[in-house]
Amino acid sequence: MDFHVSPGGRIAGRCRVPGDKSISHRAVMLAALAEGESRFTGFLAGADTLATAAAFRAMGVRIDGAHDGQVTVQGVGLHGLRAPSGPLDMGNAGTGMRLLAGLLAGQRFGVTLIGDESLSRRPMRRVIAPLRQMGADIGAAEGDTPPLVLRPVAQLRGIDYALPMASAQVKSCLLLAGLYAQGRTCVTEPAPTRDHTERMLAAFGRPLQRDGARVCIDGGDTPLRATSFAIPGDISSAAFPLVAALIAGQGELLIENVGINPTRTGILDILRAMGGDIDLLNLREAGTEPVADIRVRASRLRGIAVPTEWVPLAIDEFPAIAVAAACAQGETLITGAEELRVKESDRIAAIANGLTALGIAVEALPDGLRIQGGQFHGGVVESHGDHRIAMAFSLAALRAEAPVQIRDCVNVGTSFPGYVELMRGLGLAIEAA
Ligand code: S3P
Repeated sequence: MDFHVSPGGRIAGRCRVPGDKSISHRAVMLAALAEGESRFTGFLAGADTLATAAAFRAMGVRIDGAHDGQVTVQGVGLHGLRAPSGPLDMGNAGTGMRLLAGLLAGQRFGVTLIGDESLSRRPMRRVIAPLRQMGADIGAAEGDTPPLVLRPVAQLRGIDYALPMASAQVKSCLLLAGLYAQGRTCVTEPAPTRDHTERMLAAFGRPLQRDGARVCIDGGDTPLRATSFAIPGDISSAAFPLVAALIAGQGELLIENVGINPTRTGILDILRAMGGDIDLLNLREAGTEPVADIRVRASRLRGIAVPTEWVPLAIDEFPAIAVAAACAQGETLITGAEELRVKESDRIAAIANGLTALGIAVEALPDGLRIQGGQFHGGVVESHGDHRIAMAFSLAALRAEAPVQIRDCVNVGTSFPGYVELMRGLGLAIEAA
């Protein structure tokens, strides 16, 4: 399935984006291990999070939904999961696979985790190495890529681990393994990353100890208590209508009910530093997370050097930021972002190739990109099966001289079901065929 986008258009109105992917994964995982019934609204019914729900169903957990974003989970308790009858297919989801590796490493049964072509290329050594230090018995394919084969062990033990890279997935993997470990498991981060796991464990009755960059969980059989909350809209999905409204010229957009956890709002800091007219309205708490409505107005953007400390706080938003940078005056420099090389695609290469295909001067760096603002031509962009590359380049058409086609967009459904309809409603001339 390709996107075909006609040039021009004005973006205006109001919208809501689908529920937060990171929070939706974690909600199912913790609710499955809790005692009692948990209910969520705003759950993302995307392929990634539905794969996580299917994995827990295969381990004997009753999950109803998602119906209109509502999901009900009958928790089975920390020791209530059952061996699945076959491998668990995590699809395209790095979060699903890495967090489940931690959660399942200490179970009394073995399990195999598999994924699609993209996930099967992604590095798993980052979770395998520390989980082995905890006593886990894990096998993987060559190069420490999936499938992951977890064999049962008598008992994990807590470790004190310094993360070699800023990764919420690795941090969360180890904290979830820590639930099943003897003693205390501590993780120290080189830079702050999304803290949804920590917030949610506290909401399920297992608060963590945090001391600066170090966060610790005690093992033991203290049960997780079922809980219910609303999942906010995903700021990583809001990034697309947000950038669309900024670059489209004329128009004002209100994106309602978006999660604004400070570990996720790097995109707002970056786009504001570029001159973006963005306001947060109606700030409130929803469930375990802060939420706001984001008002954005068309703006004249200028290039900046993105401060490296903002990079982990905007790590999934660089495809959209790159399109904004191409519409800005002057140069935008992104560095310290080598993690972009191991996302759903090599996003540094995918962004550089896409911008080049549309006539923008760009240099791919080992750890980032140097982008010169310019004029988009029309053209054909390869998404490399990466949902965020596909959505980001669809926005380029707003400022292009001729139609833009993006190839292989089916994975947009992993994080943003209904993207085409939503963006068409706001004024983007997009068709999927
Ligand atoms: C996520 C963490 C990030 C992010 C991913 C979701 C999470 O990955 O890119 O989309 O839910 O923990 P890393 O931990 O690899 O940075």
